[in-house]
Amino acid sequence: MARHLLTLQDLTSKEFLSILDLSAAIKRSPGKYAKALAGKSLIMLFQKTSTRTRLSFEVGMTQLGGHAVFVDWKTSNFTLGALQDETRCLARYGDIIMARVNRHEDLVIMAHASSVPVINGLSDAAHPCQALADLLTIKEKLRSLKGRKVAFIGDGNNVCHSLMEGCALAGASFSFAGPKEYWPGDDVVKFAKKSIDVRLTDDPKEAVRGADVVYTDTWVSMGQEAESEKRLQAFMPYQVNEALLKESKALVMHCLPAHRGYEITDGILDSHASVVFDQAENRMHAQKALMLFLLGVKP
Ligand code: CP
Ligand code: NVA
Repeated sequence: MARHLLTLQDLTSKEFLSILDLSAAIKRSPGKYAKALAGKSLIMLFQKTSTRTRLSFEVGMTQLGGHAVFVDWKTSNFTLGALQDETRCLARYGDIIMARVNRHEDLVIMAHASSVPVINGLSDAAHPCQALADLLTIKEKLRSLKGRKVAFIGDGNNVCHSLMEGCALAGASFSFAGPKEYWPGDDVVKFAKKSIDVRLTDDPKEAVRGADVVYTDTWVSMGQEAESEKRLQAFMPYQVNEALLKESKALVMHCLPAHRGYEITDGILDSHASVVFDQAENRMHAQKALMLFLLGVKP
């Protein structure tokens, strides 16, 4: 049975922390892993656009001695065939599959149909590869994860869900501020509350008080464009800006792409506190470790 990563709830805390350790080791000495996936192929299926996910997986696979193939959902026969049949074919060609899909349920169908690992490269519900890179970045910058406080301001979306799950696996507490209608899903909150303190509020000042990390993401995720106007109005009081962070010494994080002047100001995104490009780079190191873990390759 192949191991999949659809959400971080698929990992134990020990596994999650060991992937972070391996990510750091790979980042330190990439040359040691240059043949770790020689002869292996990663198939990357995209139903939505991407910069970081596509490139970090593709370049990461090359650096491990393997090969990555990009498949655009729209121009493939995923538009014609049954999802389980098309997926079974991918699994006959590739050693590992990464997919970015609209509906998380489609990833569940793919994982059931696939004899090789399926990685979630973003769905409406979760973005686990992002959270792996985020926790790696926090550990690099602050040296520890346990007992840290992470605040997420804005939409309780896919990125927020995976970050909360990652904090739970790493023992960091989590506070969230956003309009009540857009709070994170109950199942994710329930999972996190089993191991960490989780606070949900509609007051961004309360959420960032004492935080080691302040994180935000777009107010309009891919596929939600029709709701733009309503969302921009609802989220404007939750902008991560100079006034909100006046007394804060927190790291500032964003998964990118950022909408400058909306969820975050230029001044904050470009400030010394911002680690957004380290996060983007760490996608590659973390995903290299994740692929080795899922394929059971012991470096
Ligand atoms: N953060 C992230 O997943 O970026 P892309 O959408 O560009 O892949
Ligand atoms: N929440 C955003 C993240 C993009 C990386 C989206 O789903 O579009």
